[in-house]
Amino acid sequence: MAKIFQLMAAPLQGLTEAAWRSVHFAMFGEQQGDVEYFTPFIRVENGEVRKRDLRDYTSDLNRGITLTPQIIFRDVDEWRLLVETLAEAGAERIDMNLGCPFVPQVRKGRGSGMLAHPEMVAKIADAMIQYAGDLKFSIKMRLGVKDPGESQCLADTLNAMPLRHVTVHPRTAAQQYKGDLLLDEMRDFASKLKHSVIFNGGIMTPADIHALSSDYAGVMVGRGLLARPSIFAEFNSGHELTVREQEETFLNLLKGTSSVLEQRLCGQSQLRDKMKPYWEYSPASLDKKIVKQGKKKGMIQKE
Ligand SMILES: Cc1cc2nc3c(=O)[nH]c(=O)nc-3n(C[C@H](O)[C@H](O)[C@H](O)COP(=O)(O)O)c2cc1C
Repeated sequence: MAKIFQLMAAPLQGLTEAAWRSVHFAMFGEQQGDVEYFTPFIRVENGEVRKRDLRDYTSDLNRGITLTPQIIFRDVDEWRLLVETLAEAGAERIDMNLGCPFVPQVRKGRGSGMLAHPEMVAKIADAMIQYAGDLKFSIKMRLGVKDPGESQCLADTLNAMPLRHVTVHPRTAAQQYKGDLLLDEMRDFASKLKHSVIFNGGIMTPADIHALSSDYAGVMVGRGLLARPSIFAEFNSGHELTVREQEETFLNLLKGTSSVLEQRLCGQSQLRDKMKPYWEYSPASLDKKIVKQGKKKGMIQKE
């Protein structure tokens, strides 16, 4: 049987949270086919799983959505606490973050910081054995902290883990979210993995997805999905929206997200702060005045 090419909505802290996901899924759930959404990372704070991270996963807004919680951790104790808490909350799949480039997290060995500690990854691999019957795990990672070769040292450990797939963002943590995608290094690393490899990074159009579809098991799209929320639906149908239609869907998604948040947040200033970051990912064609106003005020002026 031909393998299904997997489409995944990337986790983006502060953006692809329950409100955004619920509206995106309501708008495109039927047309885009089977898309797996991932929560932004869930972490431990003061010895317990951060409550608002957990609420984002357990929220009633996620109904009907194929949603996988993502965790970030620095050692086996944090990992176990997160895994057990999520299993109790009903999770059957868990994604593990080995890619976050945020310096304070990296310094503590979380996210991409773990790439420089293969011994810790091996300990996590051992801990996974106990849970592998009930939970399915996946990994989202970068190629390294400063050196893309770091991932090569992890290939054997990753291959020994029971994983659904490995998502790779082909940059180092030092590059953050900019700079050249390290495509040769990515191909080289992917060839060493026995798991399905999902490509993540810089995908902005349905054609970008097509270009990757023969080399990888799937794609994960982040900023491209914020800017062009219909990208998966367009890829699936083979029918591209016009630039105006794309702008409209972007604005409609923001309006919908804002309406959901309005009922859940306290007051207009909280709502404005929450909405502002979305404007950073406006489609390039969108009227600059609308974008400027959005970045400043968070909202679209009501007609
Ligand atoms: C604002 C922001 C927040 C992010 N939050 C997360 C996160 O919580 N977990 C994660 O694995 N990656 C996170 N990422 C990384 C994205 O999931 C993705 O790997 C990255 O943006 C590259 O993909 P893209 O070019 O399709 O956006 C974040 C990226 C940005 C820009």
